[in-house]
Amino acid sequence: MHGVTNTPSRKDVRRRQLIEATVAEIARRGFARTTLAHVASKAGLSSGIVNFYFTDKDTLLLATLESLADEYTAAWKRAVAGAGPSAADRLAALIEAEFDPEVSRRDKVAAWDAFWAEARARRPYRELCAGLDAEHHETVLGLCRRIVAEGGYDGVDAATVARGLTAMTNGLWQELSNDPKRFDREEAKRTCRAFLAGVFPRDFAPPRPERSTAEAGAAAEPRYPAETLPAWTYDNAEFYALEREHIFRRSWQLVGHASEAPEPGDFVTLDVAGERAIVVRGADRVLRAFHNVCRHRASRVVAEERGRCERFFVCPYHGWTYAFDGTLKAVPGERSFPGLKKADYGLRPVDLEVWHGFVFVRFAGSGPGVAEMMAPYAAELEPYRVAGMRPLGREWRKTIDVDWKNVMDNFLEGYHIPVGHPGLYRLFGNNYEVETQAHGVGRAYSWLRDKPSPKWSERHYQKLLPEVEGLPEERRRAWVYYNLFPATTLNVYPDQFSTFVMYPLGPGRTLLRARNYGHADERREMRAARYLNDRINALVQKEDNVLTDRVQGGLASSSYSVGLLSDKELCIRQFHDMVRRVLPVARSPEPPPFGRVAEANREYAAANGGD
Ligand code: FES
Repeated sequence: MHGVTNTPSRKDVRRRQLIEATVAEIARRGFARTTLAHVASKAGLSSGIVNFYFTDKDTLLLATLESLADEYTAAWKRAVAGAGPSAADRLAALIEAEFDPEVSRRDKVAAWDAFWAEARARRPYRELCAGLDAEHHETVLGLCRRIVAEGGYDGVDAATVARGLTAMTNGLWQELSNDPKRFDREEAKRTCRAFLAGVFPRDFAPPRPERSTAEAGAAAEPRYPAETLPAWTYDNAEFYALEREHIFRRSWQLVGHASEAPEPGDFVTLDVAGERAIVVRGADRVLRAFHNVCRHRASRVVAEERGRCERFFVCPYHGWTYAFDGTLKAVPGERSFPGLKKADYGLRPVDLEVWHGFVFVRFAGSGPGVAEMMAPYAAELEPYRVAGMRPLGREWRKTIDVDWKNVMDNFLEGYHIPVGHPGLYRLFGNNYEVETQAHGVGRAYSWLRDKPSPKWSERHYQKLLPEVEGLPEERRRAWVYYNLFPATTLNVYPDQFSTFVMYPLGPGRTLLRARNYGHADERREMRAARYLNDRINALVQKEDNVLTDRVQGGLASSSYSVGLLSDKELCIRQFHDMVRRVLPVARSPEPPPFGRVAEANREYAAANGGD
């Protein structure tokens, strides 16, 4: 794909945002006590906007139920359609989909519960839920009938099995609703499979670990939810190769801000995880992204990190010449390449998306765009007017002998602040909340305490931080940290906006890059606040480097394999779940034998499936 990724319209984003807020509010307050005002507040919007998109509470609630129903139905249908041809494979896939972490998210299950209870009194809900049930049950029944017929299970009543399985999944969902903290999705799936193994033993025998998995000392059962990734994944060359291929090439990587390439010919390059990209603004002022790799013999076409090119990119090796739209324009000694069609040898394009002015690229794969991933936070970021910001000073870089996941783990929790960052603790105390969203997105929200810090720079930051026009009250003294899987973080302060990104250089080695952005604001107190913010955060970064370095050393110790995660480390838990989902071999507490990590990963994927 080439050029700007299709992003959902503003209307779609708003509607989705409101529906997400409704789900959250129903889960929190119950059906009857949820009001449009609650939803508006949760979504960070005005009640007027809620009314604009949904005329009244009934319309909003029905749209929310329809959205949940569509998501649930699409998930199990997609799973069934994508499974192997056998009926048993398809039924197994359907069970996986029942407990998909997104579909069976805690607040969604609570909302489902509320709608089910309400369905007795409301006909539209009743009809929608009944239709949903009927289609689902017909599919389960049809698959059970096929298994009975094809597997020769004479005497087994398919209808009874289908009813039993449906009752079981409903009961397990109820358990999830009643006690979400103790609920274990893997346990739920195992329960369903054990039931089916009892009825259809030839088709649902429990999976046995393959030889190499056993050799690796891997537990057959997944060890999460409350445990960390195993230590070996933080410094293993084969695992790193999988991360490059399956995580970094297939996720959005931050290149910079559109304001860094304002004119035609302005470019910014990015090297990450073995890939190289160049983002250039064309004569038509459109930003485009390409692999920074010459089609002749793979030289880097543009060597500089950023700059302006007057007319064409000329490869420094033999001089192949490319236009800003990637077209191959000239080849020295062209006649020595008989049959060369220049039109076939342009620079290869890379996915590009500009979100709030920030430029992201993706080298492979598909899936949601940045705007879609960050949709839950779209409204609350609008008042910062990030797209109109400009870089404040130069980029900060540092290479450290610490794995990128270790740095990310540290970023994702505030549990360490009271001990690890005395300065931040003086500024915020315990004012620190974390939350997660779909697609590996999360947020930590902290706000300045009123008690003046005894330290000069912190006290003056508290005192001098000026009012910023347009920021809502709750944001005027808040530091908010957003994270985007795998390794992009965005730090939003009242006085500036800062990116902090981890670019892996190898197993246990990472390039950190950070840059501040802001609006032109020459007020003395704003300049002072920015200076003090930088000073405070420079110390925090030094402290973090020491903390993560200590952890990296400990991860190499024979005494440590897997650690525990508290509720305060919720975002790490989500992060580790994402890694395990993409690379199931990360469920193995010990490393597979040398040279067999990729193979073990395939075996884990086949044996356990995704999360
Ligand atoms: Fe680029 Fe030869 S490698 S021109």
